[in-house]
Amino acid sequence: MCRFPQVSYMLLCTLLSTTVFNSYSDEQAPEKPRVCIVGTGYVGLPTAGILSSFGNHVACVDVLSEKIAQINNGRLPIFEPGLEQLLQEPIKSGRLTFSTDVLSHMQRASIIVIAVGTPMSKNGAADLRAIDAVVEDLAKAITSYKIICIKSTVPVGTCAHVRDALIAKGINKDLFDIVSNPEFLREGTAVQDSLNPDRIIIGGNPRATTIIKSLYQPLIDKGSAYLITSLETSELIKYASNAMLATRITFINEMARLCDKVGANVLDVAAGMGMDKRIGTAFLVPGPGFGGSCFPKDTKALAYIMKNKKIGATLINAIYRSNVAHKKAILKQIDKLIGDFTDKKVALLGLAFKANTDDIRDSFAIDAIAYLLAHNAHVSAYDPQGMDNMRTLFPQVSYGPTLEAAVQGADLIVIITEWNEFKTLNVANLAQACRTKRLLDLRNIIDRATAEQNGFTYIGMGVCPVKKSAKMIH
Ligand code: UGA
Repeated sequence: MCRFPQVSYMLLCTLLSTTVFNSYSDEQAPEKPRVCIVGTGYVGLPTAGILSSFGNHVACVDVLSEKIAQINNGRLPIFEPGLEQLLQEPIKSGRLTFSTDVLSHMQRASIIVIAVGTPMSKNGAADLRAIDAVVEDLAKAITSYKIICIKSTVPVGTCAHVRDALIAKGINKDLFDIVSNPEFLREGTAVQDSLNPDRIIIGGNPRATTIIKSLYQPLIDKGSAYLITSLETSELIKYASNAMLATRITFINEMARLCDKVGANVLDVAAGMGMDKRIGTAFLVPGPGFGGSCFPKDTKALAYIMKNKKIGATLINAIYRSNVAHKKAILKQIDKLIGDFTDKKVALLGLAFKANTDDIRDSFAIDAIAYLLAHNAHVSAYDPQGMDNMRTLFPQVSYGPTLEAAVQGADLIVIITEWNEFKTLNVANLAQACRTKRLLDLRNIIDRATAEQNGFTYIGMGVCPVKKSAKMIH
């Protein structure tokens, strides 16, 4: 409910912008709003970078003191191309700061952006404990009007839940507004995605969405589309988008497995499908199944939400299951290739769930290492950025230190991540380093002919040549 019901919304928003952004009695009023971002992860940091580079005063806070100390000592806790450069100028100019003092920065801010993790809990639902912890702080911090902007991926109804929880804690409902503003950046291209988003989704009431929209005005002016919706619609747009992308990947991975059986080429299948403008080619690249911190947990969480609403999540559940089945099928393929794992060395190239990140969460590499170690294989691995993270999970693996060292004496090389440096590697040198020349290329980045000329038994993902004469398939 707005405080000035007799004023038109446009005028109200102008008034609020002035009130909100000029409410600093203890210092010279900044021209731009003071933003507090809670969470210094893969979403919080790029968001802090772009908002501060637009001239806003941004304080990025986190309860993890070692992370904040690391950043304040000039080292980022994550690897993300271009992020360091993006943060440099705002940090130098003092517009972007990092702190563990969550409460005082929340108090000083007019906009509080929540970018904390919502991982998968045991039953498949999103784990909202980090959101609940932020609500506790918000309840102490809200003494003047603030906009709480939820960027974390949260189940439909979470924004309303946060609003109700704050009111239940005695916060006057006119002292804050909740906005849903889901993030669509991808790890590995987070900076580019943040600077050039296809769309900006803002859910909430007009007074708050107008202010949040103005935060993104530089992007809108450059051509990014925006959509103002209700809280619930905005929350669901995020889940629906991730589920749709996961569906496309799952679909093409199933096609890849079929291509292997019928002697077709999945890359041409995807290209041919994509020529239909209604389909397009994006997210039709086969691989070792989708991983990362989003698609697996978000498909699960969406299925959980639907189950709660007594809607059969047939398709969404199938996507998740198909992805698991796809990963298992690849493990079976490794098994078939090696036979007896005793004294065999398997070299994994790539540990991150995708290129240009150090993130290994839900990467196929985890399934592969667990499987190979359980079968007593000797496992070596190389990844330009992901080795430190994987070492914490599997210290018994031999990590690098170089690609050459990892593949030395291998009986099978498995390419898991599509890093550029793997796309250009010298196949002849690779062949010389191996004990047995077998190459399982889960990203189709090595040329089959070159691999075979160098003596490799080459297996790609859905790009098998026809071995037998083609039969009519019904
Ligand atoms: C995904 C979405 O793409 C983002 O829009 C969203 O903001 C993000 O989740 C999130 O919810 O935070 P991300 O998980 O960082 O981004 O990375 P993607 O590029 O989407 O890749 C996800 C997985 O799918 C990776 O394992 C990747 O290798 C795989 N993938 C992707 C394929 O196997 N084939 C493709 O064609 C595309």
